[in-house]
Amino acid sequence: MSLFVADRLVKRFGGLLATDAVSLAVDHGEVHALIGPNGAGKTTLVNLISGLLPADAGRLVLDGVELTAMAPHRRVQHGLSRCFQITSVFGGRSVFDNLLLAVQAHAGSSFRFLRRRAAETGLHRQALELAQTLGLETVLHRVAATLPHGLQRRLDLALALAARPKLLLLDEPMAGMGPDDSQQMVALIGRLRERTAILLIEHDMDAVFQLADRISVLDYGRVLACGDPASIRAHPQVRAVYLGTEEGM
Ligand SMILES: Nc1ncnc2c1ncn2[C@@H]1O[C@H](COP(=O)(O)OP(=O)(O)OP(=O)(O)O)[C@@H](O)[C@H]1O
Ligand SMILES: [Mg+2]
Repeated sequence: MSLFVADRLVKRFGGLLATDAVSLAVDHGEVHALIGPNGAGKTTLVNLISGLLPADAGRLVLDGVELTAMAPHRRVQHGLSRCFQITSVFGGRSVFDNLLLAVQAHAGSSFRFLRRRAAETGLHRQALELAQTLGLETVLHRVAATLPHGLQRRLDLALALAARPKLLLLDEPMAGMGPDDSQQMVALIGRLRERTAILLIEHDMDAVFQLADRISVLDYGRVLACGDPASIRAHPQVRAVYLGTEEGM
């Protein structure tokens, strides 16, 4: 059974059908990429899944739990996390403080029965472990807002992981990055699949084809195709949609 299912989601903006009965499944351990031209409805779909926007119709189920009517923060509690934008980082605090605050916020009841000192040690350990996973251990004491762009995006990712998601939503994690930062981010995301399934929106086709186990293509709010990378690359309609754009496949 799939970890996550979106079933015939619909979203209208006035007369525009931005999400036209979209169905999509993500399996355990899967990196599922969502691609499509500008305005196809990718961000709208992520907003429907995270709960930022209410859907007009359709259902969302994560690990057997119906999310459809849940507020965004409750979806996070049930294992759905999206990458925060940079604005949600406490810019004036250190990288370590940001990580610790995020870990604390999601610790829930797991530390309730420990003595305070033991609980603090556990939280510190988790914050350090996240820093190591994302390659932030050398900048722990830097003020978050002073980090270069590539490291800020990694901190975003670390904060999203602090919620221990089952499904992580990433909307253009490589945006604005140079080739070196992009390649490092690809490697990091590749390693994250051991901890969480990922729904990845990305215009960088090299990154998509390196990372994705499966690809869904959106066009005019509809799923045009869904399949493994080889079948998507060979799909005539998908090729037609991308022909004449700078995003070569
Ligand atoms: N809040 C809104 N109100 C009205 N129309 C919107 C709103 N948000 C998105 N749209 C429209 O819905 C369509 C889908 O937009 P969306 O941002 O989801 O596309 P996208 O696939 O993420 O594009 P991009 O690749 O440029 O990020 C577009 O036509 C857009 O103009
Ligand atoms: Mg978008």
